[in-house]
Amino acid sequence: MPSSDLTQVVILGASGDLTSRKLVPALYAAQCQHLFPAGVQLVGVARRPWDDEQFRAILTQHKPTTGTCSYDSWEAFLKLTSYVKTNLETLADYTSLAERLTALSKGPCNRVFYLAVKPELFLTSVENLKNAGLLDQKDGLTSRVVVEKPFGHDLKSAAALNEGLLTLIHEDQLYRIDHYLGKETVQNLLVFRFRNAFFEPLWNQKYVENVQITVAETLGTEGRGGYYEGSGAVRDIVQNHMLQLLALVAMEPPSHLSPKAIRDEKVKVLHCLRLFSEQPDPTKLIVRGQYNGYRSETGVAKDSQTETYIALKTYIDNWRWGGVPFFLRTGKHLPDRFTSITVQFRMPPTLLFGPPQECYLRPNRITLRIQPNDGISLDLDVKEPGQGLKTRPVKLNFDYQDSFTNPSPEAYQRLLQDVVIGDQSLFIRSDEVHESWRWADDLRTTMAKTPLMPYAENTWGPEAAQGLFGECEGRWVTAP
Ligand code: BG6
Repeated sequence: MPSSDLTQVVILGASGDLTSRKLVPALYAAQCQHLFPAGVQLVGVARRPWDDEQFRAILTQHKPTTGTCSYDSWEAFLKLTSYVKTNLETLADYTSLAERLTALSKGPCNRVFYLAVKPELFLTSVENLKNAGLLDQKDGLTSRVVVEKPFGHDLKSAAALNEGLLTLIHEDQLYRIDHYLGKETVQNLLVFRFRNAFFEPLWNQKYVENVQITVAETLGTEGRGGYYEGSGAVRDIVQNHMLQLLALVAMEPPSHLSPKAIRDEKVKVLHCLRLFSEQPDPTKLIVRGQYNGYRSETGVAKDSQTETYIALKTYIDNWRWGGVPFFLRTGKHLPDRFTSITVQFRMPPTLLFGPPQECYLRPNRITLRIQPNDGISLDLDVKEPGQGLKTRPVKLNFDYQDSFTNPSPEAYQRLLQDVVIGDQSLFIRSDEVHESWRWADDLRTTMAKTPLMPYAENTWGPEAAQGLFGECEGRWVTAP
């Protein structure tokens, strides 16, 4: 039997809003740009009693507007789209699904099963796919499974999920998604660090004073109070998105660009994260908050202890980063939306031109803006024109928008393309999941011993968070 170039992308849970908001626009944009020369078919799978036309009508209601696509291309895209009503908990339905998929592809083809379902259904769905023969990889054909977050809610559940999934499929068939890894500037971190020889020699404890990572959001839980109540900022953002950013900024150069080499280096960083419980006074390293009004949202307990904000100071105990504080902060309902990483370098060994005007306001800072206005800037001091030697901070700036006319692809577009071609570099491996939950569980246990501080919406969270920095150590950034 010859191998096939066609890929069927089968979305399980296709009636949910992830499909219309993210997955379909991503596939459509890729299709418009002819990024799937071998062809893809999109198959929506869910319990709703829709047919192909109803599914297409729903997708059309949310039709993405992307510059490069014409009206005709949307119609052409819809022709490649089908729907199969399926009860995801019933094996018999998967047998019919298998028949329908074969009929649609008119023969064998590669398959991607995207689990856009609630986490309780991850294992059952994969078990049923397996039992219906849909995960077999024969004759050069591939069958891959994409799992959305949350991947477990603590180390124990994540380990059980990993174990369960890996008895059904191989690690190289499993794509644990973290959409932050699909963002252009996140990928650029590797290029920036390892293509430009002048930063890397400085990228260590000898020259770096501290590193600050912020994921600030202006939105609240957006009607997802029920989910968020069981999650909180640590599980929702820190354990996954922020630890991935931290791993990329702190990792050693990989020996080459294979998924294995990159993920080997990231996991080493996560492994070296210092546990809070092993430090004296660990509660002084964490500030958690909850915005006023959170408790009156639907699905949220009146006496909820869930954090919508967290700021913390942590360390990576390895040769490169020993003693360098990493400050992490995320929160909902803050005054601005941005994600950035700031690397603060030490002052020169002698201060020929005197100390900075404010002791915390150091020059020698690199800021990587992940979003919005993705780019990179350098803060440095220069001489003010005129008599004397007065210094003044200035910025050197690189903006993606100014340098490239092509808009950056959406995170999901890049990630879906990678699944189709079988590149796991930007997906989380099981040992990364393990290490990040190990640290996040310890963080949550310690955090529970700290007071939950209220904060007003549209403020930068509890003021106590500033106290994580020593007097002259720095400040949380408010505009990267
Ligand atoms: C998701 C979280 O993973 O990331 C959301 O569940 C959060 O709560 C979102 O708002 C942030 O993603 P982005 O791409 O908007 O920064």
